[in-house]
Amino acid sequence: MSANSILQRARPHLLALHAYVPGLQPQEPGWIKLNTNENAYPPSPRVVEALQREIGADGASLRLYPSPTSAPLRAAVARRHGLKPENVCIGNGGDDILNLLVRCFCGPEVAGAWTVPSYSLYPVLIGLEGAPVQALEFERDLRLPVGGIVRSEAPICFLTTPNAPTGVGFAAEDLRAAIAGFRGLLVADETYAPFADSDIAGWVREFPNLCVTRSFSKSHCLAGQRIGYALAHPEVIDLLDRVRDSYNVSRLSQVAALAAFEDVGYYDGLVRTIRATRERFFRELTQRRGWFTYPSQTNFVFTEPRDAAGRAGPEVVKSFYDHLVANKILVRCFPSHPLTRNFARISIGTDEEMNVLGQTIDTWLQNAPPPSSAAPAKPTSS
Ligand SMILES: Cc1ncc(COP(=O)(O)O)c(C=O)c1O
Repeated sequence: MSANSILQRARPHLLALHAYVPGLQPQEPGWIKLNTNENAYPPSPRVVEALQREIGADGASLRLYPSPTSAPLRAAVARRHGLKPENVCIGNGGDDILNLLVRCFCGPEVAGAWTVPSYSLYPVLIGLEGAPVQALEFERDLRLPVGGIVRSEAPICFLTTPNAPTGVGFAAEDLRAAIAGFRGLLVADETYAPFADSDIAGWVREFPNLCVTRSFSKSHCLAGQRIGYALAHPEVIDLLDRVRDSYNVSRLSQVAALAAFEDVGYYDGLVRTIRATRERFFRELTQRRGWFTYPSQTNFVFTEPRDAAGRAGPEVVKSFYDHLVANKILVRCFPSHPLTRNFARISIGTDEEMNVLGQTIDTWLQNAPPPSSAAPAKPTSS
């Protein structure tokens, strides 16, 4: 039997599907990695101690399955948000939680909705279930498309707040109107909320149709450990618990996340540092270079590079990106949407990394050959 004949028997919609394309993860050292919004700093020393303690001299604890419900971590997360453990589900990264949500609510003929542009994993997960994807587009002002959300008949709608890849925060009254008016489950992906001025995690108490998702990857420097969580009404959490793998979070991930969560002072300090670097870098881009950049509530900025002649456009972004890669700096570009194709998303690194980036932007401006079809300089509004 050939591989092709086996594929003929796979679910047909999967054969037509494009996989999610993650940001580049070079495995060799020497890169300044500003493309996937990892934290620029190491996790709390208490995380390392807790992991060492858990592994012990001989790794004996690794023989045993972890807590199937991640019980101690659930309790800690619930305490932090003023909720009950029944309001919390822990996942193998935020992506695991998003996948569980899609599996619970989407299927053939049952669409999932998402706001566009935001996290492009949502439509991939919806497509995996053979479900139609409903795109709710932002205007250039990037206000939440409340009308589209409220009119949507989808049983589930995903939005990222603050948004990615643009970094903007939404008005609380728009979020409230969207949740109150939507008839399905509204998933507020708060992966970047720890870097924002405000969040809506506490609203889970008020709205049974709100599910807030979080990640330990960015705010808690644990992208490599894969931990995230959902906050929602107990009935929604119960549904997720029925669908998830029984041991979906590894023993070491549970230990690392718990130790991280307990070191509040360390992480509050990191958030302050990252926000200060972000504001400095934002000023450098906007005031010194005159590049339009959305005000960011996250640990990255979304900026429209302009070449030495003041031109912007996809060709300019490509020239900018290529120059950075040639100097071993990675950022991320989103060429497939009109609102994102002139922009680059740059994660906030250490001050030293951002200084090297600044110097490399200078050399791009001095040396880059003019792109052939860049748009002439024209003021852009937000
Ligand atoms: C908006 C958004 N949601 C969720 C995730 C997933 O995070 P995790 O690493 O916890 O799976 C990411 C990661 O980049 C993200 O940008």
